[in-house]
Amino acid sequence: MRVLVTGGAGFIGRWVVKQLLQKNVHGPLHISVLDNLSNGSRKNIAEFEEEKESFTFIQGDIRDRKLLQLLFKEGFDLLIHLAASINVQESLLDPQETFENDVVGTFNLLEEARKRNTRFVYISTCMVYARAEHKAIREDDPLSPASPYAGSKLAGENLVESYYRGYGLPALILRPFNTYGPFQKSNQEGGVVAIFIEKALKGEEIPIFGDGEQTRDFLYVEDCAEFIVKASFSEAATGQVINAGSGQDITINDLGRIVCPDERKIRYLPHHHLQSEIKRLLCDSTKAKSLLGWGPGTSLKEGIAKTMDWMRTR
Ligand SMILES: NC(=O)c1ccc[n+]([C@@H]2O[C@H](COP(=O)([O-])OP(=O)(O)OC[C@H]3O[C@@H](n4cnc5c(N)ncnc54)[C@H](O)[C@@H]3O)[C@@H](O)[C@H]2O)c1
Repeated sequence: MRVLVTGGAGFIGRWVVKQLLQKNVHGPLHISVLDNLSNGSRKNIAEFEEEKESFTFIQGDIRDRKLLQLLFKEGFDLLIHLAASINVQESLLDPQETFENDVVGTFNLLEEARKRNTRFVYISTCMVYARAEHKAIREDDPLSPASPYAGSKLAGENLVESYYRGYGLPALILRPFNTYGPFQKSNQEGGVVAIFIEKALKGEEIPIFGDGEQTRDFLYVEDCAEFIVKASFSEAATGQVINAGSGQDITINDLGRIVCPDERKIRYLPHHHLQSEIKRLLCDSTKAKSLLGWGPGTSLKEGIAKTMDWMRTR
């Protein structure tokens, strides 16, 4: 079975590849990673590069249609599509780059997948949702993209759904909530957990944008990868939209206190784009549980400890 993972040299992608290589329960898998290394790195996948029989890295771009045509000539049985511009802030500053990577790139891959009816797993995001009100967010709750990043991911979803309905392409859409853990970047491209931990380990101030009362549902990256792999091989998931999160939300203020108990180190900064901040995100993963038997296995405390250990030794 031949699997293509786009964005496989990135944070979540490298964990997906790791689990695919470890499991290999569906018969011998060959995994190809396509990544232009704009935000990923060769280091993230260094440990897989020795597995020459089951792993290939291709440095290339999902906007390059000629390259995709060439790659897909070999044929893939499964495509897990993670490559994307992922930064909300940058998408507001440069929407075109995000549009080209996240919408046009997704379209290019769908066009290749359609030629051979390749199973298409689209990794979307919780950022497509409107804020959670009094309950956790289910897949059929209101959508309200508040940044070009969210808008582009949702456009990608719509394209995927249209290929599922219009061409019968076996496709599915996964919406992980905010994901954190080892290998996430801790610069401005990174997630809030990685940034806070990096600052705390260096003894620097912890920056909080706005009042810090916005909440997020943090999903540990190995749980996220397990969700993606399970859904990728589940017939029941075909044609579905499925959430994954921890089922608990926490304010950014509380996250800051967990990572850095010395409150004097917390520094409040004006929000750059308050209008694009979703006030509350909390995931209902009931569907993932019932369809895939998936649930989050790692508590926030455990996940933060694992991330800290990795950051100390990297
Ligand atoms: N990190 C999160 O909290 C989170 C949550 C939900 C969904 N997601 C989604 O998961 C996916 C992976 O996110 P991540 O956090 O691992 O980000 P990441 O930036 O680490 O991974 C994305 C990878 O795609 C590559 N890439 C970008 N544009 C490309 C292009 N044009 N051609 C080829 N490769 C390209 C980057 O180099 C990078 O390695 C994204 O689709 C993102 O929208 C992320």
